[in-house]
Amino acid sequence: MVATLQHAGRRVFSLFEDAFDAAFGPRLNPFYHLGALSFFFFWVVLASGVYLYIFFETSIDGAYRSVESLTHIQWYAGGIARSLHRYASDAMVIVVLLHLLREFTLDRYRGVRWYAWVTGVLLLWLLYASGIGGYWLVWDRLAQYIAVVTSEWLDWLPLFGQSIARNFLNSTTVNDRFFSLLSFIHVSVPLFLLLGSWIHILRISRARTNPPRPLALGALLALAALALARPALSQGPANLDTVVSVVSLDWFYLAAYPLIDIWSRGAVWAVLAGGTLLLLLLPWLPRRREQPAAVVDLSNCNGCGRCFADCPYSAVVLRPRSDGLPFEAEAVVDASLCTACGICVGACPTATPFRRLAELIPGIDMPRLTVRALRNSTAAAAAPLTGTDRVIVYGCQGGPDLARLNAAGVGAIALPCVAALPPSFIDFVISRRHADGVLLAGCKAGDCYQRLGVEWTEQRLQGRRDPYLRARVPRERVATCWAGPRDATGLAREVAAFRARLRELGPYRRDGETPPQSPNPEVDDVAYRVG
Ligand code: HEM
Ligand code: SF4
Ligand code: SF4
Repeated sequence: MVATLQHAGRRVFSLFEDAFDAAFGPRLNPFYHLGALSFFFFWVVLASGVYLYIFFETSIDGAYRSVESLTHIQWYAGGIARSLHRYASDAMVIVVLLHLLREFTLDRYRGVRWYAWVTGVLLLWLLYASGIGGYWLVWDRLAQYIAVVTSEWLDWLPLFGQSIARNFLNSTTVNDRFFSLLSFIHVSVPLFLLLGSWIHILRISRARTNPPRPLALGALLALAALALARPALSQGPANLDTVVSVVSLDWFYLAAYPLIDIWSRGAVWAVLAGGTLLLLLLPWLPRRREQPAAVVDLSNCNGCGRCFADCPYSAVVLRPRSDGLPFEAEAVVDASLCTACGICVGACPTATPFRRLAELIPGIDMPRLTVRALRNSTAAAAAPLTGTDRVIVYGCQGGPDLARLNAAGVGAIALPCVAALPPSFIDFVISRRHADGVLLAGCKAGDCYQRLGVEWTEQRLQGRRDPYLRARVPRERVATCWAGPRDATGLAREVAAFRARLRELGPYRRDGETPPQSPNPEVDDVAYRVG
């Protein structure tokens, strides 16, 4: 059931994502930056809110008047700030809900990721409380409607000693003190939202909280254009001596309000509480069977910290050395945070196939696909290949499907993430002539399933991140293909083009080398050792 929903949702998302890829390119595709866009819209709401608050009067009479003055007299600044405040809040609801749905369809909410999901669900309540509170402050007809319906709805809970709705019986029952309390709530709840958002990303290393600049600028311009084309307006002053009969709603925040009118208040509480509970329990319905976590072998770990720097889920920490070896630190994996992406193995300088097979135990390794097994499967995939255009493709689970790459001359090896491949393997494949070229296939740039895998791989290939691909590796024999899981045809095309280039290059030779060479697969001229 959950899998069917995810599958259907993924298809729908893919349609939109492909269209936006075509329009903006994968790096600026807003679908790949929904969490960061949520933060961005929050900052717009905060900045515009601070401006509005300077001119806002926190009293029954002053509230409506000051907002009207901001909207009409100071339209060029206050009016625009009001509209930005309104539309950025709406945009935040849209991107947060899309973010939730997308993480669900990508199955990035179960197992060790439960924490981000559960804290995210709690953020939804804070988001709605922040937005709805804002509508009260305008003190127009809509505010009156919301005040009356919300207070009656809250009164249903046996939490408050006195009825809140009594404050809104008529124009004499509401007072300035109560109004100041509302303003205080509207300022403080978003601060809790910010605190909650920080808690939400605590277990993620280098969380992307800022969208790429062109995307942020585009979003801001779109909000500004909307603010000029359709300025946010009030709906006439509130008057508690009359009943509000017609009011236009902001459906992003107030969609549940007509239900409170139609159903009983208890029924709406039941639906919202039940929905929240269901969302909170979703990571365990059913629970994900996680792959075994990365394992550290202290006798091979020199405490260099590269695994710590590259782990996208803060699952590796460095602790003072405990085994007496002459290094300052040692790596420790927290299995409850590890998604088994293998990126730490790709980062470990001791994870190199050039070491003797018998010694090939790196500082950190994946029980399901050890470096030794990876070296063996590389050799096995390469063995049947013939010609001068032999390619080894290392692909990842989030990238294009490797199963459709069964052309003669191509050996494909699946990894949990493309960054789980230590760059020394590329050197190994080419210098040992296992193949004529290596192609790395992974998720679309900007949309790495393991968050940082594509970025780290690119940096390692370009020599900007340790461990980097050695300079001696001929770059024309290395290719990359960053594509979505459904783009197997695109990958096949890239592989065919790469093979054509390899045929033109001819067989690989090291500078000054006279083939044929008889490599000793057990020992290499390069020493890769702990320390
Ligand atoms: C104010 C609202 C929210 C903000 C500002 C926010 C922001 C973020 C950010 C910045 C990330 C890290 C993205 C990255 O660097 O890869 C993230 C991850 C995540 N968010 Fe949210 N989020 C919000 C609401 C939610 C909600 C409502 C849910 C779902 C219930 C949710 C579920 C997740 C999950 C599961 C991840 C982890 C993805 C992973 O482990 O790869 N978030 N969020
Ligand atoms: S496998 Fe991935 S999540 Fe686990 S420790 Fe290594 S880099 Fe971190
Ligand atoms: S040697 Fe490997 S396991 Fe040890 S700290 Fe460095 S990268 Fe991590």
